Amino acid sequence: MERYRLHPLLSQEKIASIVEHLAGQISKDYGGRELVLVCILKGAFMFLSDLVRHLRIPVQVDFVRLTSYGSGMETSGIIEITKDIEIPIEGKDVLIIEDIIDSGRTLRFLRKRLSLANPHSVKICALLDKKARREVAVEADYLGTEVDDVFIVGYGIDFNEDYRHLPEIYYVTPIDPAKE
Ligand code: IMP
Ligand code: MG
Repeated sequence: MERYRLHPLLSQEKIASIVEHLAGQISKDYGGRELVLVCILKGAFMFLSDLVRHLRIPVQVDFVRLTSYGSGMETSGIIEITKDIEIPIEGKDVLIIEDIIDSGRTLRFLRKRLSLANPHSVKICALLDKKARREVAVEADYLGTEVDDVFIVGYGIDFNEDYRHLPEIYYVTPIDPAKE
């Protein structure tokens, strides 16, 4: 069985300051508007809850669950929606809350899908961005921080459903038994 090592990347304090900064920007930009946050399950749940706590404007919150076939560190790019939003978004401002942008396919799919309901606007807020891995043109309107092309876990983000509970963010490398 392959084993993995976790390397610290972002501390709780660093994450908190990133999230507070994003919340400040969003509160300023969306004051007086009808904002619906659409959180992508499961990875963005912790980010969403911390972000909402720091907003200074009223918002509504909804969730989508998307599947991209494949497990572990690879995704296929074929995306399906398995849990849709329940709040009507026509005429409203929508902000997608995502944990991490990789190829960009998930966000391109969801942005297009949500736009079909005629919202006033659809923008993207992502905690992390692996820009080097982008395959389709998608940019976050609100971005926490860029990260290198490494596999991230913690703060809601999983590796085969493990490590979501960690309050810090780590990157994962396989342990080579020959070198132990
Ligand atoms: P994309 O569609 O290729 O941009 O992939 C985005 C989705 O893949 C994110 O919502 C994450 O769930 C997942 N993902 C991308 N990179 C990582 C990572 O480093 N660790 C864990 N999940 C990741
Ligand atoms: Mg995700």
